[in-house]
Amino acid sequence: MLGNMHSRTAAESGDPLRLFHLSDIHFGLEDTRALDWAKACIEQERPDAVAITGDLTMRARHPEFRAACAWIMALDIPVTVEVGNHDIPYFNLYERFFAPYKRFKVIERVLETQLDLPALAIVPLRTTTRAQYQRFPWSNGWVTDHALHQTLRAIDALPAGTRVLVAAHHPLTERRADGKLLTINGTHAMEQLAKRRVLGILSGHIHDPFDLTAQTPSGPLRMIGAGTLSLRIRSTPPSFNEIVVSGDQVKVTARNLDELPSEALQIDRVPENALPPRAPGEPVAPVGNVPATDPPVH
Ligand SMILES: [Fe+2]
Ligand SMILES: [Fe+2]
Repeated sequence: MLGNMHSRTAAESGDPLRLFHLSDIHFGLEDTRALDWAKACIEQERPDAVAITGDLTMRARHPEFRAACAWIMALDIPVTVEVGNHDIPYFNLYERFFAPYKRFKVIERVLETQLDLPALAIVPLRTTTRAQYQRFPWSNGWVTDHALHQTLRAIDALPAGTRVLVAAHHPLTERRADGKLLTINGTHAMEQLAKRRVLGILSGHIHDPFDLTAQTPSGPLRMIGAGTLSLRIRSTPPSFNEIVVSGDQVKVTARNLDELPSEALQIDRVPENALPPRAPGEPVAPVGNVPATDPPVH
């Protein structure tokens, strides 16, 4: 149990570890220039691992999956991939309900896979469901009791002293400031993960990056969101997160082609979704790169 964890020296833990956290590539509406740049960064800098927190495609179509899988399988680096709400078949309802993961066959090996790095584990948490009886549409997250149990069990099985990052598609924030329901069961999940003193939760879905610390009854919980590498931008240019872990310190940099500082890209609250902010009071990154019209949706 992590309650027994002892402090490791940097040498024992293989520190510092460097991860690239990518999200929301949305093949079908990918930003080719940003994606080529991210790939070049991975090839040249060879991080210890790459975590991709979902929404590989726009509509889970076969050609989109083929492109996504080819891109991911060409990465010669340990990689874990989470499932996003856009990755569950949208048009084929039979597949959506009975074989939602069939189209991931080629990348099965890396799908929702726990990565065991020196004294650090990246543990998946599924937040995407094929249906939600509580509401429609089903684009927002739901941490089912089963999904949470699986993640907690994986964390509890780790050797003492292992640091943990959890990878999910949806941020776990359960309610928007005005009370609207976002991720179902998110508050309970956050409390359980804070209890286990995880270093942070990596997520996507929002398309703007963030690095926030939430307070829970079990203590603080770091919430790290990656931006998008697609044309479906919200209020920031395409970006990915570089995450450096040294001991129990986690440094997050939102890297982008324009070399803007992270602070210019990171939003200070979690909005509902990836659409550009149109209503007053919605979070907008300091860079304020809001497109005049909504990006196309395939
Ligand atoms: Fe997305
Ligand atoms: Fe999403």
